Amino acid sequence: MTDNYPGRGFGNAQPFQPSSDDAAATRPVSYTPANPAPRPPVQPTGGQQMPPAQGHMPSQSAASPQMAHPATAPAQPSAAPQSAPRPAVAPASQGVGQNDAQKSHQASGSTLHEIGRVIEIAGSGSQVQLSAKLINDLASHQDPAIAMAGQVGSQVKIRVGNVWLLANIRTQRLDMADAGSIIAAVDFLGEGDEERLTGKIYNFRRGVTRYPVPGSSVFAVSSPDLKQVYAADGRAHVGIGTVFPTRDIRASLYVDAMLGKHFALLGSTGTGKSTSAALILHKICDLAPQGHIVMIDPHGEYSAAFKGNGALYDVNNLAMPYWLMNFAEHCEVLINSTGDDWQTDADILAKCLLQARSKSRIAESIGKLTVDAPVPYLLSDLTNIIQNEMGKLDKATNSAPYMRLKSKIEELKADPRYNFMFSGMLVGDSMTDFLSKIFRLPSAGKPISIIDVSAVPSDITSTVVAVLSRLVFDYAIWSRNEPQRPILLVCEEAHRYIPSDRMSGASAVRTILERIAKEGRKYGVSLGLITQRPSDLAEGVLSQCGTIISMRLNNDRDQAYVRAAMPEGARGFLDSIPALRNRECIICGEGVSIPIRVALDTLEEERRPASEDPLFLVLWQETGGEEEILDRVVRRWRAQGR
Ligand SMILES: Nc1ncnc2c1ncn2[C@@H]1O[C@H](COP(=O)(O)OP(=O)(O)OP(=O)(O)O)[C@@H](O)[C@H]1O
Ligand SMILES: [Mg+2]
Repeated sequence: MTDNYPGRGFGNAQPFQPSSDDAAATRPVSYTPANPAPRPPVQPTGGQQMPPAQGHMPSQSAASPQMAHPATAPAQPSAAPQSAPRPAVAPASQGVGQNDAQKSHQASGSTLHEIGRVIEIAGSGSQVQLSAKLINDLASHQDPAIAMAGQVGSQVKIRVGNVWLLANIRTQRLDMADAGSIIAAVDFLGEGDEERLTGKIYNFRRGVTRYPVPGSSVFAVSSPDLKQVYAADGRAHVGIGTVFPTRDIRASLYVDAMLGKHFALLGSTGTGKSTSAALILHKICDLAPQGHIVMIDPHGEYSAAFKGNGALYDVNNLAMPYWLMNFAEHCEVLINSTGDDWQTDADILAKCLLQARSKSRIAESIGKLTVDAPVPYLLSDLTNIIQNEMGKLDKATNSAPYMRLKSKIEELKADPRYNFMFSGMLVGDSMTDFLSKIFRLPSAGKPISIIDVSAVPSDITSTVVAVLSRLVFDYAIWSRNEPQRPILLVCEEAHRYIPSDRMSGASAVRTILERIAKEGRKYGVSLGLITQRPSDLAEGVLSQCGTIISMRLNNDRDQAYVRAAMPEGARGFLDSIPALRNRECIICGEGVSIPIRVALDTLEEERRPASEDPLFLVLWQETGGEEEILDRVVRRWRAQGR
């Protein structure tokens, strides 16, 4: 029931406390030199329970400014001195933790908004107690970060010595012992130093050196704090949006950290994945015009987005030679049979393919040729060899496997839809040219190649993607002694190519993409996976992604998968995943200093992928030219070309 608890400060929920002294209660929580009124203590736990009917914090009336934790929290007497974290400015004679803290706030000149205190520190299960009233009083604060104080997914700060710890609120529930309080589970995100004069956080870093002790005050995080926390440090970064809930703090992705350990971009359909991918890739291309990015585009959306700075390929100009396939990929394309027959066909193919490859002049210079080596061969050589082998059979043996292979090869050669791969024009040794154009070596100002596979016949799409992905990986392996040219491979609709075991069995594309996910980092290959169905991705692939960018996910299963893959500190954000607006996302992992919720920038129209939501009513106003439209469509349809 905590979801509906009015004290959370969500939306315009009303506080349930009597409001007669609202103003007075609000005033003291701000520690400014101009407003020296002491802060009211947080509602004690334990012994001083109030009946629910009058369950607001009795000590918040500001009528007892001298009251402090030690006085009101008898259950934790020993915690109080530790909650006074700055002994340097706190004369020992005062001996009252909260006053010490308060003094330092005044000295620092910054405004602090206390909203609660720490009640338990326990590994990943730390808890704070928040005052519902204080949170509600801040809800209309002009600083949106402070107005969000206490909400699930927002941050709080806690002082430990000269260091500010930042924690993320993961869950909230009503404090059963005190209706005016909320118990919140928090995850620590990192720590920053306190600037002596201004009290601001600076030099923010991940990890926690020292945890606070129970009783320490918990404060709202302000926009200036967030600005410091999110301020991109010296590392190369791209700005992609604004940090929620602020309107002006830029959210950045650290490019090296993000690409170094792969990334995943997730979200239900229509939430803006493709546009966000285009936004991020454009920013990276702008930063690295000599980069090397390969984008597999199953819907033909991205050519529109990258016409200015990308090399665009589709079935008309891809010209991917069939002989680049390795043996497993050959099997996928040429063998239709199943069970025992499959093995028989594969054995024959292996033998004949090796013979065909060894006929090439290139093979002469290779000591020990393997069936996987990308050495050109003639399809007609392969069929002739199969024919010969069949001729050698004594009568009793079954010639059906030979016939199957032969007729499949003939079929591929004859079908114009397969021309981009099986054309007679592709027999020449064009491997270096092909790698050069696909990997952008050199990039010549177009660092990204868009490979539109939407018109590739569906039965070989996955093999085509397998070949392209494997070329990326093999290039990285075989160029280890060369000047390194790291490559980013981005895969849209990744669940199609790396499906979970539930969905389908092994395939060449799944094998290679899983391998890149596991080992690519070492060889300078980065993987970007985009999918609307993270739960259909192969197990473990998501957790190989160091950075997860999640847009709204409507489905419970998908949310659970993402939750499992996200680092602990980001769990608080997960609850907001179903509530994200379009174009909003949560980013966690290597690419960001701490998990953030980001409102992504609007991408210029000419840089957007061709994936606009259709405007039915507008388009249904238009009429005329239907006959010509149908003629053109039918012609293209019959020619099976675009
Ligand atoms: N950052 C943005 N700037 C401008 N328009 C955006 C942005 N993000 C999303 N949109 C708009 O939202 C709509 C849907 O976006 P998009 O096609 O990227 O969603 P998607 O998640 O890739 O959907 P699908 O899963 O169906 O591929 C488009 O009309 C797009 O123009
Ligand atoms: Mg899309």
